Amino acid sequence: MSSQNPIGVFDSGVGGLTVYRALREALPHEDFIYLGDTARLPYGTKSKETVERYTVSAAQLLREKEIKFLVVACNTASAHALEALQRDVPDLPYCGVIAAGAEAAVKATKNGRIAVLATEGTVRSGIYTDMIYGLRPDAEVQMLACNLLVALAEEGWCEGEEAEAVIGRYLKRLTVDYDTLVLGCTHFPLLAPVMRKLCAPHVRIVDSASVTARAVMDLLTARGVTNPQEQAGRDSFLVTDLPERFARLGKNFLGREIADKVALTGLSVFYPINITNSLNRVA
Ligand code: DGL
Repeated sequence: MSSQNPIGVFDSGVGGLTVYRALREALPHEDFIYLGDTARLPYGTKSKETVERYTVSAAQLLREKEIKFLVVACNTASAHALEALQRDVPDLPYCGVIAAGAEAAVKATKNGRIAVLATEGTVRSGIYTDMIYGLRPDAEVQMLACNLLVALAEEGWCEGEEAEAVIGRYLKRLTVDYDTLVLGCTHFPLLAPVMRKLCAPHVRIVDSASVTARAVMDLLTARGVTNPQEQAGRDSFLVTDLPERFARLGKNFLGREIADKVALTGLSVFYPINITNSLNRVA
């Protein structure tokens, strides 16, 4: 794959734009194709098998667009589907967002107690806990599913009374004496100012977007495939449903207009035979 090929960024929807934004800043000369599977969002409440199928089909579509590298920006997809990607799309180099986030959390913590806010699916996978223990076996990790925060961020209610009430209620559920709070979901960086306000001043908030962007930069450099072009890189955004909605929310996320760069795409999902059979039986 040539260094001039674009980088693919995949998320279940609009939240991955927080990762794209960090990538765009770190890699100004790269071209990006972002794919948001808005037709099937949310992934956070779905099974591992379903998230695997959706993620593999998204990677196949982006591979057809000749991307040189895939960033799985979605935490839930990173938690469930990286092995499936390796198995089903073996020729496409990729990285998820969880390894970099876990590493950053371990670097940030002093007392070894870490809280992770994520979707239900990411919590169920236990992946942050496993990765953090792998790096620091004496750590104490508490993962908390915060599904409502996805809706808050999508709605643009990122500050004010409602955001503070919902976030405050989730934070009260944390029983560990954490000094580090990991935002283990694409959408949560948008709510970071309220979390900052509600958490004790010594708590460090870790967002995997910027650390993932740095990891991608290092990976591309190590492979010798950074884009040599001198002009600013180009962007395009593909979505599987409602491009207008994506453009509107995307403008909130990015603080700039992207409507002329958003297009609708189809995503065919391969259903393994056993699942097709069970659907037929139900019918
Ligand atoms: N992108 C998902 C994640 O980071 C959040 C939205 C969803 O549930 O699809 O886990």
